[in-house]
Amino acid sequence: MMGCGTHELLIRVSVILSLFCFCTGFSPVDKYFIDCGSPTNTTLGDRVFMADSLASSLLSSPQNILSNSSSNPTTNSLESPLYQTARIFSGVSKYTFPITQIGRHWIRLYFFPSVYGNHDSSSANFSVSAQNFALLTNFNPKNASVKEFSVNVSSPLVITFIPANNSFAFLNAMEVVSVPDLLITDDATLVSPSGKFQGLLTQAMETVFRVNMGGQTVSFENDTLWRTWVPDQDFLVQKNLATNVSKIGAVRYPQGGATPDIAPATVYGTCAEMNTQGDANSNFNVTWEFNVDQGFQYFVRFHFCDIVSASANQLYFNVYIDSTIVAPDLDLSNINLGFLATPYYMDFVTAMNENSKIRISIGPSSLKNSLPNAILNGLEIMKMNNSMGSLDGVASTVPSSPKTKKNVGMIVGLIIGVLVAVVLVAIVFFICRRRNMESLGHSKAWSPFSLTMGSKYSNGTTLSTVSNLGYRFPFATVQEATNNFDESWVIGIGGFGKVYKGELNDGTKVAVKRGNPRSQQGFAEFRTEIEMLSQFRHRHLVSLIGHCDEKNEMILIYEYMENGTLKSHLYGAGLPNLSWKERLEICIGAARGLHYLHTGYSKAVIHRDVKSANILLDENLMAKVADFGLSKTGPEIDQTHVSTAVKGSFGYLDPEYFRRQQLTEKSDVYSFGVVLFEVLCARTVIDPSLPREMVNLAEWAMKWQKKGQLDQIIDHHLVGKIKPDSLRKFGETAEKCLAEYGVDRPSMGDVLWNLEYALQLQEAVLQNDPAENSTNVIGELAPQVNDFNHVDTTVSATQFEAAKLDDVSGVSMSRVFSQLVKSEGR
Ligand SMILES: *[C@@H]1O[C@H](CO)[C@@H](O)[C@H](O)[C@H]1NC(C)=O
Ligand SMILES: *[C@@H]1O[C@H](CO)[C@@H](O)[C@H](O)[C@H]1NC(C)=O
Ligand SMILES: *[C@@H]1O[C@H](CO)[C@@H](O)[C@H](O)[C@H]1NC(C)=O
Ligand SMILES: *[C@@H]1O[C@H](CO)[C@@H](O)[C@H](O)[C@H]1NC(C)=O
Ligand SMILES: *[C@@H]1O[C@H](CO)[C@@H](O)[C@H](O)[C@H]1NC(C)=O
Ligand SMILES: *[C@@H]1O[C@H](CO)[C@@H](O)[C@H](O)[C@H]1NC(C)=O
Ligand SMILES: *[C@@H]1O[C@H](CO)[C@@H](O)[C@H](O)[C@H]1NC(C)=O
Ligand SMILES: *[C@@H]1O[C@H](CO)[C@@H](O)[C@H](O)[C@H]1NC(C)=O
Ligand SMILES: *[C@@H]1O[C@H](CO)[C@@H](O)[C@H](O)[C@H]1NC(C)=O
Ligand SMILES: *[C@@H]1O[C@H](CO)[C@@H](O)[C@H](O)[C@H]1NC(C)=O
Repeated sequence: MMGCGTHELLIRVSVILSLFCFCTGFSPVDKYFIDCGSPTNTTLGDRVFMADSLASSLLSSPQNILSNSSSNPTTNSLESPLYQTARIFSGVSKYTFPITQIGRHWIRLYFFPSVYGNHDSSSANFSVSAQNFALLTNFNPKNASVKEFSVNVSSPLVITFIPANNSFAFLNAMEVVSVPDLLITDDATLVSPSGKFQGLLTQAMETVFRVNMGGQTVSFENDTLWRTWVPDQDFLVQKNLATNVSKIGAVRYPQGGATPDIAPATVYGTCAEMNTQGDANSNFNVTWEFNVDQGFQYFVRFHFCDIVSASANQLYFNVYIDSTIVAPDLDLSNINLGFLATPYYMDFVTAMNENSKIRISIGPSSLKNSLPNAILNGLEIMKMNNSMGSLDGVASTVPSSPKTKKNVGMIVGLIIGVLVAVVLVAIVFFICRRRNMESLGHSKAWSPFSLTMGSKYSNGTTLSTVSNLGYRFPFATVQEATNNFDESWVIGIGGFGKVYKGELNDGTKVAVKRGNPRSQQGFAEFRTEIEMLSQFRHRHLVSLIGHCDEKNEMILIYEYMENGTLKSHLYGAGLPNLSWKERLEICIGAARGLHYLHTGYSKAVIHRDVKSANILLDENLMAKVADFGLSKTGPEIDQTHVSTAVKGSFGYLDPEYFRRQQLTEKSDVYSFGVVLFEVLCARTVIDPSLPREMVNLAEWAMKWQKKGQLDQIIDHHLVGKIKPDSLRKFGETAEKCLAEYGVDRPSMGDVLWNLEYALQLQEAVLQNDPAENSTNVIGELAPQVNDFNHVDTTVSATQFEAAKLDDVSGVSMSRVFSQLVKSEGR
C-alpha cells in the first residue's frame, strides 16, 4: 500500500511539474504574418502582422493593388484590425515562403468582404493553391472569415492566387507558421471499414470546425497555437439535451499525451454533458451536426477531459461518428491511470462521405455502474485532400505547368521575379564575406543591408524594401531536382560552371547553375550575382528563385527559360528562324532589361557581359537578360572607374574599356550594338574561319553600315522581309552603339526608343500617309534622339509629353508618338 501511494505521489508531482514546462509560448520555426495592403505593422495579440511592403519580396504578381476597405468591419471580431486593408490581384500571383523546418505548416487566409477602391469583393472569384494542392476553387468569401489550411512542406512554400477570368482575387491578411510535429501524426483510426489509417503526414487539410463544447469562444489569444475555438450551441441538434460544465482550473495535463498545444485548458476545462436532470434511466444521445462537402474524407479529433466525475470509474459512455460507434464504453479515468480532469484526445478518419453532414453523438454506455452520462469537451473536423489533391471541388486548380499561364488572358506582363529570403542567410553571407575580406586584406566594406530599393505602389507612395535575398535550398533538394546533377540534363556551360535543367517537387521548372567550388573568383561572382539578382526584379531580367550554399556549394537556381538563348535561335542550333518582328521584340525586351539595370536603381549596374548567349527567351519568346555574375555597380560606387581585370566576352568587348579599363554603362551599350548586328546577320561575332575582313562581326557590319549597304549582309532568311525604313533605323541604332567613344554612344533608353521606333516602322500601315514613313520623319527624329538623355525613359515612350514633342518636330511627331503609344498598349 505504501509503495503504491509513493508511486502515485511521484506521478502527481511530475504531472504538476510538467505543467510548468508548457508555460512558455509557442515559437514556431517558420512564421510569416502579413497584413495585406497595410502601410504599417498590425499587432494582434502577440503576433505582429507585417506591413504589406515588408512582404512584397515574397510576392510575385503581374498586377496588384493595395486598397483600404470602404466599410469598417461591422463584426467586432478580434481580427478586424487586419480587415481594414487588402491586396487585390488581377492576375495569377504567387507568394513564396522560404521554409526552415520541414513539416506541416498552417496557412491562414483572412478575408473580409467589402468594397476596396473600385473593386467590390462580391464580384471576386478566385482559386488558391499551395504546393500541389488546390485549397480554394472559384471562391468568393461571403462573410468575414479566416480559412485555415495545413500542408506538409519540404521546399519553399508557394501559395498561388488565381483569379477567374475577368475577375480578381483579394486577401486581407495571411499567416504561415510551422505546426508542432506532435500535433498531427501519421496515423489515426479509420472509421469504416474500421482499421488503421496511415499517411496523414502527406495530407493537406482544411480546418472546417474547431469547437469548444460547453463553453464560449476561445480566441487565438487564449490558445498557444493561435487557434480559435467556437462554441458548440449552433451545432447541437437538440439544445435541451445538453448542459454546460466548466472547471477550467481543474485541468491537469498528463505526462506524455495531450498538451496545451493539442488544446488549451479553456477547451479541456469546459464540456457538454447529458442533461439527465438526475434521471437514472436517461437514455439518449447528445448530437451535433456539421455541414460538410460531399466526396471528401474528414479527420475528426475528439477532446475529452473528465471534469464531471467525483471519483474514478464513474463515467462510461459511447462515442459515435454518424451511426458508427467509434469508442464503446469509454472510461477516461481508466485511460488516465485513475486521474480525473486529465486531457485525452482521439483521432479518426472518416470514410469518404456521401452525406453533406457529419453527425457526432455521445450517449450512455449500457454498462450500468452509475448514473448515465456522457461528455465531450472539444472537437476538430478537418477536411482531407481528395485523390486529385484538392480541398475544394473535384478537380485540382493547380496550374500543372507554367504553360497554363497562357490561359490567363488578363495577364499583361508576368513579373516572375520571386526572390528574397531569410535574414539568417544574409547574416551567414555577411559573415562569410567579412571573413573572406579580412583574410584577403580587402578594405572595402560589403553589406547586404547597405543597399535598399524603393518599390512603387499604385497609390504613389514609395516604400523602402530591405529584405533582398533569395531562398536557400537544401542541397538534397537541388540534387533531387537535377536528378543528382545528371550530365544529360546539362543545358549550358559557362565560366562559372554548368547549368542544369531541373524540376522542383512542386513541378516548377528551374535552371540550376552549379559553380565550381574551387574557383575563388567564382565565389565572389556568386555573391555578386545573388546580391544583384535579389535586388533587381523586372520582367526582362531572369529571376533568381534561390540558391544553395550548403557544403561549400555555389548553386544558383533560376526560373527556367523554355526557349533557351537568343544565340541558339540565330544560328548553329537548327532552330526555326525568327521573324524580323520577333527579333525586334526580343531586342526591345533585352534593351528594357538593360535599361532597367542602368537606371532602375539609384546606382547604375553595369552588366559587363552582354551577349546573345546571355539573352534568354521564355515560352513566349519574351527576352530576359541573364547572367549577372560579372555585374558591377557604376561609377557612383566605383569612384575610380577602374577595374582590375577586364571581363566580358571576346567579340563583344568595348574597345574603350579594353584600352582604358574604364567601365561605364556605355560598355554595355557597345556590346548590345554587337548583339544587334548579330541578330540582323545571324552569324557568330568572331569567326576565324572567314576571310580576314569578315572575322569580326562588329567591324565588318560597321563597314557595310557606313556604306549604307547593310542590306547586303543581313541574314538571308530576312531578305525582302524587312521594311527599308525599319532596317535603316535599326542599322543607325547599332552603329551609334558601336561608336568609338562611350560619350558618343546613346543610353540604353535611347536605344530602346529607337528599337521601338524601328518596330513601329516595320509594322506601320502605309495607307495613311506614305510621306510619314519617309526619310523626312526620320530626319526630324534623329536629332531628337539625343534629347532623350535627360528624360527619364523608365519604361516606355508613353511617358513623354506629346506637347513637348510637338514643340520640337511639329505635327508629324505627334503622330509618330501616338503610334508609339499604341504599340506600348499591346
Ligand atoms: C514590422 O514588423 C517587422 C517584421 O515583423 C519588423 O522587422 C519591423 O521592425 C516592424 N516595423 C515596425 C515599424 O514596427
Ligand atoms: C488608407 O487609408 C489611410 C488613412 O486614411 C491612408 O493613409 C492610406 O494612404 C490609405 N491607403 C490606401 C492604399 O489607399
Ligand atoms: C511530412 O513531414 C514529416 C515531418 O513532420 C516528414 O518526416 C515527412 O517526410 C513529410 N512527408 C511528406 C510527404 O512531405
Ligand atoms: C467563377 O469562375 C468560374 C470559372 O470562370 C465559373 O465557373 C464560376 O461560375 C464563377 N463563380 C462565380 C461565383 O461567379
Ligand atoms: C454569413 O453571415 C450571416 C450573418 O452573420 C449568416 O446568416 C450567413 O449564413 C453567413 N453565410 C455563410 C456562408 O456563412
Ligand atoms: C483570454 O485571454 C485574454 C487576454 O489575454 C484574457 O483577458 C482572458 O481572461 C482569457 N480568457 C480566458 C477564458 O482565459
Ligand atoms: C451553455 O453555454 C452557452 C455559451 O456560453 C450558452 O449559450 C448556453 O445557453 C449554455 N447552455 C446551457 C444549457 O446553459
Ligand atoms: C445514439 O446514436 C447511435 C448512432 O446513431 C445509435 O445507434 C444509438 O441507438 C443512439 N442511442 C440512443 C439511446 O438513441
Ligand atoms: C492527398 O494528397 C496526397 C499527396 O498528393 C496523396 O498521397 C493522398 O492520397 C491524397 N489523399 C486522398 C484521400 O486521396
Ligand atoms: C479564360 O479565358 C481564356 C481565354 O481568354 C479561355 O481560353 C479559358 O477557357 C477561359 N477559362 C474559363 C474557365 O472560362
